[in-house]
Amino acid sequence: MKTVQLRSRNEVPAIGLGTWKSDPGKVGDAVLEAIKCGYRHIDCAAIYGNEGEIGEALQKAMKDKLVKRDELWITSKLWNDSHQKGDVLPALKKTLKDLQLDYLDLYLIHWPVAFKKDVGFPESPDQFLPLSQVPISETWSMMEEAVEQGLSKTIGVSNFSVKKLKSLLDEANIPPEMNQVELHPFLQQNELLDFCTSNHIAVTGYSPLGSTDRQQEMKKDDEPSLLEHPAITELADKHDCTAGQILLSWHVNRGNIVIPKSTSKKHIKENLESQNINLSNEDMLKISEMNEGYRFVDGKFFEMEGNSYKNVFDE
Ligand SMILES: NC(=O)c1ccc[n+]([C@@H]2O[C@H](COP(=O)([O-])OP(=O)(O)OC[C@H]3O[C@@H](n4cnc5c(N)ncnc54)[C@H](OP(=O)(O)O)[C@@H]3O)[C@@H](O)[C@H]2O)c1
Repeated sequence: MKTVQLRSRNEVPAIGLGTWKSDPGKVGDAVLEAIKCGYRHIDCAAIYGNEGEIGEALQKAMKDKLVKRDELWITSKLWNDSHQKGDVLPALKKTLKDLQLDYLDLYLIHWPVAFKKDVGFPESPDQFLPLSQVPISETWSMMEEAVEQGLSKTIGVSNFSVKKLKSLLDEANIPPEMNQVELHPFLQQNELLDFCTSNHIAVTGYSPLGSTDRQQEMKKDDEPSLLEHPAITELADKHDCTAGQILLSWHVNRGNIVIPKSTSKKHIKENLESQNINLSNEDMLKISEMNEGYRFVDGKFFEMEGNSYKNVFDE
């Protein structure tokens, strides 16, 4: 299993299983199947609404001696309604209870966006809290407390721009070790990657296959296809593998971590096997030409007339 080493010397398996949109009744089997195939990294989040079933599957895997706790890398994320100081540790403890774990390997601030308590997804602007009222530095101080209390081995962020990382680094006692962001050949994020590398922040790429199973309301009519792009299908022919495997191996070849979501046995196996594909410099160059700054998860769902969240990615 290929790994990426963090500043704290913890090793994160380079390919993990994503679990957003993995339906109840399917996600547990997907996690078990993944562990049987050799996955040791599962990406979770409270807002995905399936941590309970994942917890059951993890317990079963450990009981059946498929894996030991210290061989697994489990990530979860703090939802936007729990950024206030008194809400961070209770949210983390709820996740631990659901996942049936004593500690996480990595806990992330899911978005640099805050909601009022118990708001899953705001329906009106008054359900947001401005960051001037709940600054990230305040939320971060409780993330640090989570490390101090042994509730998470490491901490990081997700969907943070260079600008937001800089201000967090200025204020943090424990610097973030991870930034989880959308990453694929249409959105190569070179500037963000350079900044993260020079500041010892590892990068995990999400939606690496284009997040094709997102609900219709989140999609644009004319979304480009990563899996059907001719540069990708040609490379798949060349390496005698699938388009998905080329897309995933691109991350591993760049030294990043990637977390494809799947509940299909075939895809779960195939996605892990992509770590064995070596792309040449010429292949990487060809893929680098696909960069067009295209986001599938564009953050526009946080923009509402009358709230303070415009341009969440600072672009
Ligand atoms: N931090 C954040 O804000 C954030 C945002 C988005 C995602 N994430 C994380 O990143 C994970 C991955 O991103 P995502 O779920 O948006 O999308 P994704 O992994 O890009 O795409 C998932 C879709 O691709 C299909 N698929 C999987 N393997 C395939 C293969 N080898 N060939 C063809 N199709 C394949 C899946 O179907 P099957 O299930 O049928 O295989 C599913 O429809 C999430 O699940 C979540 O854990 C985090």
